[in-house]
Amino acid sequence: MTRDRTSTRVIAIDGPAASGKSSTAARLARRLGWAHLDSGALYRALTLAAVDRFGESPRSWSPAALVALAEELPVRLVLLGDEFQPEVAGVDVEAAIRDTRVTRHVSAVAALPEVRAWVNARQREAVRAHGGGVVVDGRDIGTVVFPDAPLKIFLVADPGERARRRLAQRGEAVDAAELARESALLAARDEADSTRAVAPLRPAPDAVPLDTTDLSLEQQVERIAALARERFPG
Ligand code: DC
Repeated sequence: MTRDRTSTRVIAIDGPAASGKSSTAARLARRLGWAHLDSGALYRALTLAAVDRFGESPRSWSPAALVALAEELPVRLVLLGDEFQPEVAGVDVEAAIRDTRVTRHVSAVAALPEVRAWVNARQREAVRAHGGGVVVDGRDIGTVVFPDAPLKIFLVADPGERARRRLAQRGEAVDAAELARESALLAARDEADSTRAVAPLRPAPDAVPLDTTDLSLEQQVERIAALARERFPG
């Protein structure tokens, strides 16, 4: 079966942790009048649910039990305005999923093939049900989830700059010691996400690389919006 690439109204934005994917994707979606789906939010929502139900030793979590938990609660995405928001058992968890308790364990959860299959199905369902254009950000959107997306961006940024942005976002001091600590945490997560067996972080062959180290958020959004105008004429 030949799939019609132009009918997929998806822009895929992938890249490492703290490369600015979600803020860029959210602002781009608003500019285009599209919706925004942060796929990391689903992995985080499921991790939050797992920590609450099973405690903080992920090695003891079975993939089947995680998927069953996600279905039972449920863990899901709900469209609020132009943003898909994560919910656990009907409660908005957008703030709770940023907790370090979740960040510490999310790479382990995201490495499980059963979990990835479940999350991917939820993303495809959400985009299909929405019916309009969606900017989706994550690690494997262009390679695995929406390989037919007509526009794929791979964001990169210098590790030091990513650490600085992360600290600034959290309103924390940007001193040398904190920067070094945050850079090490980001590097560990990049390593885990890039070397896992299933859907490792890597650019799709047809992704446009964009280094944002010296760009403002507005400049990043403008570069991608210009490409979107070419790829999605009218
Ligand atoms: O972007 P983030 O930090 O919120 O993502 C949380 C984790 O989820 C990250 O460690 C990698 C994983 N993830 C993934 O494996 N695939 C995606 N499409 C999105 C996130």
